[in-house]
Amino acid sequence: MSNSANAALDVKAAQFFQSLQQALSAQTLVRLVLSRYEGDDRDLVRFVARPVELKGQYMLSFVRETTTFTTTQNYLPSDAVAFVEQQLTNGFKAALLETTDSEYQLTISKKGKWLLNRTKRQGGGTPSQPAAHNREKQRFVEQSRPYLQALGVTDVQGNVIPAMQRKWKQINKFIEILAKAIRETGLAERSQVHVADFGSGKAYLTFAVFDYLTQLGLDAKVTGVELRQPLVDLCNDTAKRLGLSGLDFEQGDVQHFKARGINVMIALHACDIATDYAIHMGIQTGAEIIMCSPCCHKELRPQLQSPAVLAPLLKHGIHQGQEAEMLTDGMRALLLEASGYDTQVFEFISLEHTSKNKMILAQKRQQPRDSSAIWQQIAALKLFYGIRAQTLETLLKGGSVPTSCDSEGC
Ligand SMILES: C[S@@+](CC[C@H](N)C(=O)[O-])C[C@H]1O[C@@H](n2cnc3c(N)ncnc32)[C@H](O)[C@@H]1O
Repeated sequence: MSNSANAALDVKAAQFFQSLQQALSAQTLVRLVLSRYEGDDRDLVRFVARPVELKGQYMLSFVRETTTFTTTQNYLPSDAVAFVEQQLTNGFKAALLETTDSEYQLTISKKGKWLLNRTKRQGGGTPSQPAAHNREKQRFVEQSRPYLQALGVTDVQGNVIPAMQRKWKQINKFIEILAKAIRETGLAERSQVHVADFGSGKAYLTFAVFDYLTQLGLDAKVTGVELRQPLVDLCNDTAKRLGLSGLDFEQGDVQHFKARGINVMIALHACDIATDYAIHMGIQTGAEIIMCSPCCHKELRPQLQSPAVLAPLLKHGIHQGQEAEMLTDGMRALLLEASGYDTQVFEFISLEHTSKNKMILAQKRQQPRDSSAIWQQIAALKLFYGIRAQTLETLLKGGSVPTSCDSEGC
């Protein structure tokens, strides 16, 4: 190795490479991830390596992930160690080594200091069977992650439990979307990232977000906020059991919750205007990323006045519901844009998995824009549909909202 960060191989780095060598010799390596890339290649994101058996040889297969595609390169154990050393002196600032019994997280601080954290895996890890190539579909989340087993998504062998297939797909899709947003907003280069997940429920996604950010080598602080105390207690117990310091859960109502310094605001399936409160809080706190998947759009429906030409369509209740949903989420997207965000509204995962399948993703712009035309569009829509009040708009304008949401109603 060759720079100031590793002169005479820093003792922490030496311990890490010794553990890597041992894991390769004993064939106990489960996975190796190189992340927090800060080098010159604009597209390079990370390497994920797993053992494979090729022509009877135990090797490490490195998947090179870029912003657009992945490629694979295979190394014999001795070459693999040299390759990892080279990558850690050429732009990668974090390495995670998972073995059957431990996890080693090596990070290089901004000042070039090596930091090593070792944690014991609960109940032993998944045995590191060298895999035949490409049998398993490439996913963003590794099935072997301990939290998946603790939450009942996978069994003790690390296989996805059949009844949890939908949740597994949702977790992967969610992390894929988040990963792209984290890169595009520059949060991947921060040393610390603070996430708030409102209406965290059983917290599958909250754990997944924490795990993903930690594996990127970031100092992640993730807070799940949930109305129901038993779920809060359950999730805190699980996080503690897994030794996940930085992940915690608080009992609270998003409508009254005060938060500061949040980088990523998540609200998935928070019902009705709880989504508006969450978005408002995200905007107020200057979050770089706001992600929500709204549900039960009750607020605008009773206010809708069908313009005459639409009356034959909107006389059907189902169409009225769809119209109210489109208008509510369309207005939320516009209000986010007027507040300095680039916003997308898209299908989160297909209808076969859940009926709550819409995602609003907002990423804070580097440069502010003139939002007067957007406010005019919002005013025109309200006039067209006869809308008197929409909660997010009211909150952004500093007003108070008279009604509250029945959170058990959806
Ligand atoms: C459908 S679950 C979604 C759980 C999780 N976010 C997910 O997507 O898998 C919605 C959760 O939000 C909680 N919730 C509803 N309204 C809330 C509010 N105003 N403040 C905090 N939590 C709320 C509910 O108790 C429930 O656990």
